Amino acid sequence: METRIVKINSTDGEDAKKALRDAADILRRGGLVVMPTETVYGLGGDATSADAAEKIYRAKGRPSNNPLIIHIASPEEAEGYCHTSLLYYRLAEAFMPGPLTVIMPKKDTVPLSVTGGLDTVAVRCPAHKVAGALIREFGRPIAAPSANVSGRPSPTCAEYAAEDLSGRVDMIIDGGECEIGLESTIVKIDGDSLTLLRPGGITLDALNMICESVSVSRAVTEQLREGETVESPGMMYRHYSPRTPVVLLDGGDEDFVSFICYEQQRTGGKCAVICYDGEEKFVGEKNVITIGERDDLASHGKHLFTALRVADTFGCEVIYAHLPPKNGLGLALYNRMIRAAAHTVRKI
Ligand code: TXA
Ligand code: MG
Repeated sequence: METRIVKINSTDGEDAKKALRDAADILRRGGLVVMPTETVYGLGGDATSADAAEKIYRAKGRPSNNPLIIHIASPEEAEGYCHTSLLYYRLAEAFMPGPLTVIMPKKDTVPLSVTGGLDTVAVRCPAHKVAGALIREFGRPIAAPSANVSGRPSPTCAEYAAEDLSGRVDMIIDGGECEIGLESTIVKIDGDSLTLLRPGGITLDALNMICESVSVSRAVTEQLREGETVESPGMMYRHYSPRTPVVLLDGGDEDFVSFICYEQQRTGGKCAVICYDGEEKFVGEKNVITIGERDDLASHGKHLFTALRVADTFGCEVIYAHLPPKNGLGLALYNRMIRAAAHTVRKI
């Protein structure tokens, strides 16, 4: 299959409008379109079609029991596809459009193949203009997992989506670099309570302002025990894994620098390093990627997946990175990094 790549910077120009019409036509014919969102790129298909869902699973190499998120253009559109509640609308008012996905009981309009056989469906209203315009042009929700081949880091730019999916999708819309760079926060509604299944751009503190009862799934920070099941099937799979082993270093900034200097010497410079701005001066500049100022967690989020992809190209024996904090946006970084590292943390 030939993949057409189209750049869209604004949704107003005639070229952009034509590209969005073409993309919507592809979706109507059951094809696949990669679209930018503010979190990561998505691999989109018709959310009301079992055939499109099958195609998505195949293109991504994803087990078909791992459900897809359906993307809507406005919070009210959820009515057509799931059983909403007052709590949903309170979340929607606070965080939609934006990086929040809400899981609710599904209606029959969503095929079971989209939800991996579950009787719930995950709904998200993205803030990215291009994603919103495409959903509106199509007139139905778009089912979209992250646009990576299963097990690879989620793509935060069109080039990475193309690297993984060229030849497997009909069209890739290039809308530039994703603003957030980490996948959406996922919560499940259960009566008046929420369970946080995946942390993201909407923090736990922000959720606590809207709902009095928020619990955090164990899988967010802990390694699953043999045979343990969790509410979100995606949490059971190996994820965000570079080929090079990742080791997270738990200690102060000075310890981080001296540990890496020692290891670089010991291995003849065979360590890749993901660090804060300024630290590259001390850790040898070779095979080093910086992800922003020390306390700029938003910048770390935006650059993390690119850093993992790039660090993996250095041909090193190991990738070292700071163990992220668990507060605020840190929880999302911690969740992604601990999985990339297969829970390997070294105290220094
Ligand atoms: O930011 C995002 O959420 C991106 C963009 C493209 O919107 N999408 C994304 O999709 O990250 P994906 O498929 O890579 O991750 C969705 C996660 C999976 O781990 C899946 O298991 C979980 O959501 N999920 C989806 N529907 C679910 C449901 N009904 N119950 C429990 N977990 C669900
Ligand atoms: Mg994904």
